[in-house]
Amino acid sequence: MLPLRTVLRRTASGSCCRGFSVSARAYNTGRKGLVLGVYDKEKDEGSVILTNAGDVFDKVVSGKLRDQLTRSGPTLKKGKTRMFYGLHEDFPSVVVVGLGKKTAGVNHQENWNESKENIRTAVSVGCRQMQDLEVEHVEVDPCGDEQAAAEGAVLGLFEYDELKKKKKTAVATQLHGSQDSAAWQKGVLYAEGQNLARYLMEAPANYITPTRFAEILEQKLGAFGDRIKVFTRLKAWIEEQQMGAFLSVAKGSDEPPVFLEIHYQGSPESSESPLVFVGKGVTFDSGGISLKPSSGMDAMRADMGGAATVCSAIVTAASLKLPLNIIGLAPLCENMPNGKANKPGDVVKARNGKTIQVDNTDAEGRLLLADALCYAHDFNPRAIVNAATLTGAMDVALGSAATGVFTNSSWLWTHLHEASIVTGDRVWRMPLFEHYSKQVTESALADLNNIGKYSRSGGACTAAAFLKEFVSAPHWAHLDIAGVMSNKDEVPYLRKGMSGRPTRTLTEFAARLSSDKNAS
Ligand code: BES
Ligand code: MG
Ligand code: ZN
Repeated sequence: MLPLRTVLRRTASGSCCRGFSVSARAYNTGRKGLVLGVYDKEKDEGSVILTNAGDVFDKVVSGKLRDQLTRSGPTLKKGKTRMFYGLHEDFPSVVVVGLGKKTAGVNHQENWNESKENIRTAVSVGCRQMQDLEVEHVEVDPCGDEQAAAEGAVLGLFEYDELKKKKKTAVATQLHGSQDSAAWQKGVLYAEGQNLARYLMEAPANYITPTRFAEILEQKLGAFGDRIKVFTRLKAWIEEQQMGAFLSVAKGSDEPPVFLEIHYQGSPESSESPLVFVGKGVTFDSGGISLKPSSGMDAMRADMGGAATVCSAIVTAASLKLPLNIIGLAPLCENMPNGKANKPGDVVKARNGKTIQVDNTDAEGRLLLADALCYAHDFNPRAIVNAATLTGAMDVALGSAATGVFTNSSWLWTHLHEASIVTGDRVWRMPLFEHYSKQVTESALADLNNIGKYSRSGGACTAAAFLKEFVSAPHWAHLDIAGVMSNKDEVPYLRKGMSGRPTRTLTEFAARLSSDKNAS
């Protein structure tokens, strides 16, 4: 069975610009649903404010939609729905969803585009309602933004149920009443990228081992021919590279480590410096000898979220044929407490020769990243961006509102920040002060200590300062994604579970960099 069947099944989609001239054949081939948006009523506005597609549909059904919407209750609040049956023979069921204010746009207080967020939410709610009714084909109102609508549909319908007998109805979504199928398709690809990361993060650790993770990526990237090369480096290579910090974590588990290296050649100028993505790939983090408490430990199957999001963003970049070169690096292993595991106080040596005292074996992510960041410098990168579920302290600081970004480059920050306003998957800048560096460079036995001197205080910042010790590149950003790793109900267009955040922001960032040839 294909490992990504769930993802593919959930996201089957295409574009449809047939408007209302749907043939009788389509009607007879199965039940079809239609998702339409409706805006909040303005103060003096007497009647319902439909979207363009809603307006056209209303005309086709001789004003019945507007009429029934008005008579069936108060104006639909943002994200609330109302079902209509039998309005049109091609669409036995129509769901109308509240979009909020028509005038919404970029909200500078919130740091995101509220209109796009409203569309993603409304479309996801509408599509899920259709799924609950077991409607297999759904046409979607673009609500003025085809890409955001597609993202809402494809993200909203995703659920990891590969290992369950009882699965949700597979829903195929199509664009309704718009010519801009390219924007819709772009949204589908952005969302499918995030869904791939969700799949990898949510799947249990006995299924997604380092080896399996690499196989899935090899399989996904196989479709792109010469533009993509995948190197699955094994233990002997990692040893040759003298990645002693990474190896010290890996040896605590019976599961062999893998160093995954992906090269995407999207720039016609093949010599152009690459953007290097690095992702923490701990497929299960038990804490090692510094064992974590058992309650909630299952969530540590997603401790490869950094690797999952950066690799998925590269898959998406390749699907979009973005004109830039990207290299993806993912050190993959488990953090387990076997007889060979790191012990508190052990000293290990990273690829650049720096020695590290491992005072807490649960601070393992920075050990993997130390070696991967050193290696990233070999590629003369135009920028290095790493993502990692690195610290619980990041979750304490910002929760799931935004990814914390620690960067030495205002240029990189601007691009990441602007990308995140568009995607709604936000970032927030955090400090890389010398103040924190001092706390990791004082060690009794080695050059560095893998935990801060004042243990819990500023834990996300001391972790970032530790990574900085392995970076000399002028444009580097570390994204601590521990706080955004999972979703309860905060992001309304994602179901409960591992979030795949911030894959779309990384994709959008790469897209922006591909059109910014001059800078850096
Ligand atoms: N993978 C964890 C961080 C984490 C915690 C991610 C919660 C997602 C949700 C990381 O390896 C870890 O254990 N970090 C320690 C560092 C500490 C020992 C300095 C932590 O945050 O407790
Ligand atoms: Mg840990
Ligand atoms: Zn970890």
